[in-house]
Amino acid sequence: MAVIAGNWKMHHGPNEALDFLSDFDVDAVPSSHELIVFPSNLSLHALATAEQRDSRVQVGVQNVYWEDSGAFTGEISASMAKDAGAAFALIGHSERRHVFGETDLQTQWKVDIVVSSGLVPVLCVGETIEERKAGLVEEVILRQLEVALDSLCSAPRFLVAYEPVWAIGTGETATPEDATFAHGTLRRRLERALSAPHASRVPILYGGSVKPGNAAELMEARDVDGLLVGGASLDATSFSQIAAAAG
Ligand code: PGA
Repeated sequence: MAVIAGNWKMHHGPNEALDFLSDFDVDAVPSSHELIVFPSNLSLHALATAEQRDSRVQVGVQNVYWEDSGAFTGEISASMAKDAGAAFALIGHSERRHVFGETDLQTQWKVDIVVSSGLVPVLCVGETIEERKAGLVEEVILRQLEVALDSLCSAPRFLVAYEPVWAIGTGETATPEDATFAHGTLRRRLERALSAPHASRVPILYGGSVKPGNAAELMEARDVDGLLVGGASLDATSFSQIAAAAG
């Protein structure tokens, strides 16, 4: 079983989201795969309502604020996302951290509210190219995981996504060896926090320039349990090709 997730970022309004769903060939995807799409907030309810009727695509929110309600113009809460039909929440995506300046502490608060709201958190971790060149991959991804680990471990279910910042939207992909190293590092840390059998059931997704042509090779890497796809998830055909190639 693999988890194949699409992060649409700031693409696909409600009508385009519904067009995607009608174009998406769910029968081409092995039934053992779990499919998740993270649409924009404006498209989430339309997509979640439509998918309840006729699709196996689950829906998640790309980001939430760390309070449940209040005077926070422009923000949305985890409980609202759940009410609108989301089941998952991406937290700590590289663009949140590096474009919007989100800190480790803020990702921790967000994981806390996501878990208490009953959404399944998908915590994203990953190093910048400078950190990689400085030999800091392990240190960075463990730090990003550890700030949220207590909350994650208290949740009935959570996922982790390893997304090296230098591979996101650049066309550069981590090699299967890079992915194995990072995913193995995360898995060993999860084993220390949870029992080994429990840790082995936490899906660790790879993200960063995943395409139909590299999905199979990445999925074969040890400890890679699924894929988080950005650009190539916007097109229904390429997203179903990725899901089909994932094994
Ligand atoms: P990409 O994005 O597939 O376009 O590199 C991945 C992501 O940001 O989740």
